[in-house]
Amino acid sequence: MDRRPIGVFDSGLGGLTAVRQLRRMLPGEDIVYFGDTGRVPYGPRGRDTILQYARQDIRFLLSQGVKCIVAACGTVSSTYPAEEAAALPVPYTGVVGTAARCAAEATKSGRVGVIGTAATVRSGSYEKALRALRPDIAITAKACPLFVPLVENGFIEPGDPVAALVVERYLAEVRASGVDTLILGCTHYPLLRPAIADFMGAGVTLIDVGQMTAVAAAGMLGERGLLNDGARAGTARYYVSDTPEDFAALETMFLGEYAGGPVERIAIETY
Ligand code: DGL
Repeated sequence: MDRRPIGVFDSGLGGLTAVRQLRRMLPGEDIVYFGDTGRVPYGPRGRDTILQYARQDIRFLLSQGVKCIVAACGTVSSTYPAEEAAALPVPYTGVVGTAARCAAEATKSGRVGVIGTAATVRSGSYEKALRALRPDIAITAKACPLFVPLVENGFIEPGDPVAALVVERYLAEVRASGVDTLILGCTHYPLLRPAIADFMGAGVTLIDVGQMTAVAAAGMLGERGLLNDGARAGTARYYVSDTPEDFAALETMFLGEYAGGPVERIAIETY
């Protein structure tokens, strides 16, 4: 049993889709969240920059006394090296492995789609994980760079014509390739689920990496005996690298029923 908080981070607010699921699954856990809102998006950047940012984000969370690090970001999960993660003083998990496992189990046709940021798709991380599980899988991967700004600007209502148009542009070739399972490989994308589900059709299983992050974190803590005893309701503290007011304006969209909790700005470049 370990009462220290779970440390979760993302390039911005997308990782809050994972926090929402974590709070649902592990209501007794305390959470410290860092969203790098001053430097979002990470997805279009090069590997070295993403690594430098990820290392600072992790150092900040470690300074908060967390019991584990959860990279609730497809881009960081696809870039941060496993050897470096293994050398951290607390356990680490990203989103790729669990999402790939879930997709490999879900597909019947053996055709799986992967969508994510440019850095995620360039890294081939989901493909490698999927092929390690099922070498026969056929994968169609597509970077969807406009999805993150769409979400952050609130174009997420079911039936939103702008979201529908962008989804169609990006996903036409993925749908045409006949996938029966699609990994929403970025933690922002679960918020576009209605538009994506509408376009892909009812026969396609969507794998939500926000939820997969929470499954991965809960599994890791359970295996290592690091779960809290659940004797009281967990709390959440949020840190951002840009104005807390902007966070407050968007948090309900990402956190739903779990919105609320103190938000503080930190100087991430000093970590
Ligand atoms: N939430 C990040 C991810 O899961 C994407 C946002 C960004 O490009 O920084 O990849």
